[in-house]
Amino acid sequence: MSDKPVILTDQNTGKSVELPIIRGTEGEPTLDIKSVAPELGYFTYDPGYAGTASCTSKITFIDGGKGILRYRGYPIEQLAESSSFLEVAFLLLNGELPNQDEYTEFVNEITYHSMVHEKLNTFISGFHFDAHPMAMMAGVVGSLAAFYHAKLDMNNPVERKLAAMRMIAKMPTLAAACYRHYMGWPSAYPLNNLSYTERFLHMMFSVPAESYKVSPVAAKAFDLLFILHADHEQNASTSTVRLVGSTGANPYACVAAGISALWGPAHGGANEEVLKMLEQIGHVSNVAKFVDKAKDRDDPFRLMGFGHRVYKNYDPRASIIREAAHEVLDELGRSDPLMDLAMELERIALEDEYFIEKKLYPNVDFYSGIIYRALGIPVSMFTVMFAIARTVGWVSQWLEQANNPSRIGRPRQVYTGPAERPYVDIEQR
Ligand code: CMC
Repeated sequence: MSDKPVILTDQNTGKSVELPIIRGTEGEPTLDIKSVAPELGYFTYDPGYAGTASCTSKITFIDGGKGILRYRGYPIEQLAESSSFLEVAFLLLNGELPNQDEYTEFVNEITYHSMVHEKLNTFISGFHFDAHPMAMMAGVVGSLAAFYHAKLDMNNPVERKLAAMRMIAKMPTLAAACYRHYMGWPSAYPLNNLSYTERFLHMMFSVPAESYKVSPVAAKAFDLLFILHADHEQNASTSTVRLVGSTGANPYACVAAGISALWGPAHGGANEEVLKMLEQIGHVSNVAKFVDKAKDRDDPFRLMGFGHRVYKNYDPRASIIREAAHEVLDELGRSDPLMDLAMELERIALEDEYFIEKKLYPNVDFYSGIIYRALGIPVSMFTVMFAIARTVGWVSQWLEQANNPSRIGRPRQVYTGPAERPYVDIEQR
C-alpha cells in the first residue's frame, strides 16, 4: 500500500500543497516539505532540527523510543560482543562485513597509513604544553590538507577513499602525539606488528627508558569503546561534517569541523564533564543534593551524561559500557569510588519523577570515563578518545554524501532584527 500524500492547506489564502511521505527501511515516516516554500511562500521553522531530516542515509539506524542502535542493520550489542573496531570501520565505510581477504587487506592498509609526516610533530610542538588536546586535534587534523595535498581531488572516488583511510589510520597517532607533547615525552612511532588499539596504547604510554607491554585488558576495552562510539547517524558533529562537506571543502577540513563540534559539553565533551561532575559531587551522600540542583530550573547545572535528543529510553551503548566498566575494574583488581558514585547517581535519578517524566537516561558518556580513568587516560583526553572512534562515522557519512552529491547545506532564518533604517552619522548618534 502506498502512502497518500499529506495535504497542507493555508487557511489564509486557500492554497494547498501535497506533501509526499518518504519512508525509509525503518523509522518514522517523514514529510517531504521541499514544495512548501515555492508553492505556499512559507519557510519552515524547526530550531535545533528536532523534527527535521537533513538527508537520507544507509549507514546507522536508531530507534530512540526502543533504545535500538544498528550499524548497517547489525545490532550494536552483536557488534560489541563479536566484532572488532576495524571490522566495524570496514562495515560502516563499505556497507557490508568484510570476508577474510577483504579484512586482511583493510587492516594492512590502515596499518601502513598510520605514520604521520614528521613535520606534524614540529607543528604540534608549537602548541603551549598545556593546550587542550581537542584544540590541538582540531588544528592538527585541519592541517592534514596542507601535508597530504597531492592526492586531494574530491571528484576522484579513489582519492576520496584514500583521504578517509588516512584519517582513520592517523587519528590515534596524532592523538598520542598531542598527549606526549603535554607530557614532554619524545615522539613515539606506530608499530605495525600491533593491532589498532594496541598500537594506540603503545604510542600513548611507552617511554624510551623502558620496554612497554600493552595490557590486553586495555586493548580489548578500547576496541569495545571505539565500536560503540563509531557512528551515531546525524548527531551534531556528523551533521557539521556533512554541512561543511556540502560546500566541497576537503575532508580534513570537514573532520576538523566535526572535532570542534564534538568538543562541546552537550555532545562528546560530556565525557570529560561527567568525570569533573562526579569529582565535584565527591561522596555518595551528596548525590541527592546534586540531583535536586539538576532539577532546579533556575540552576544551569545539568546531570552530565544524562539525556539525549533521540533516546527516550536507556542508551544501549550506556548499558554495554556500564558492564564493561565493571569488568575492567574487576580484571585490573581495582575499585573506583567514582563508579559507586555514578551507580548511586543513576539509581536516584532513574527513580526520580523529573527524570522519569522527561525520559532522561544515562547516555554513552556516563560510564565511559570510568574506564578511561582506570586505564590511565587523563580527563582532558577523554573527548579525543571519542573523536578517534567517531572519525570512522564522520568519514563514512562524508563519503556517502560525496558519492551522492546533494545541494549545499544552507538553512534559512526568521529575521527578528531591526527593519530598514537610515544610516546615522557618528556626530548625530
Ligand atoms: N539534566 C537535567 N535536566 C535535563 C538534562 C540533564 N542532563 N537533559 C535534559 N534535561 C531537561 C531539560 O532541562 C529540559 O527540561 P524542560 O523541558 O523542563 O525545559 C528537558 O529535559 C529536555 O531537554 P532539552 O535540552 O530540550 O533536550 P535536547 O534534546 O535539546 O538536549 C542533551 C539533549 C543531550 C543536549 C541534554 O540532555 C543534555 O544537555 N545532557 C547533558 C549533556 C550530555 O550528557 N551530553 C551527551 C549527549 S550523548 C553523547 C553525544 O551526543 O556526544
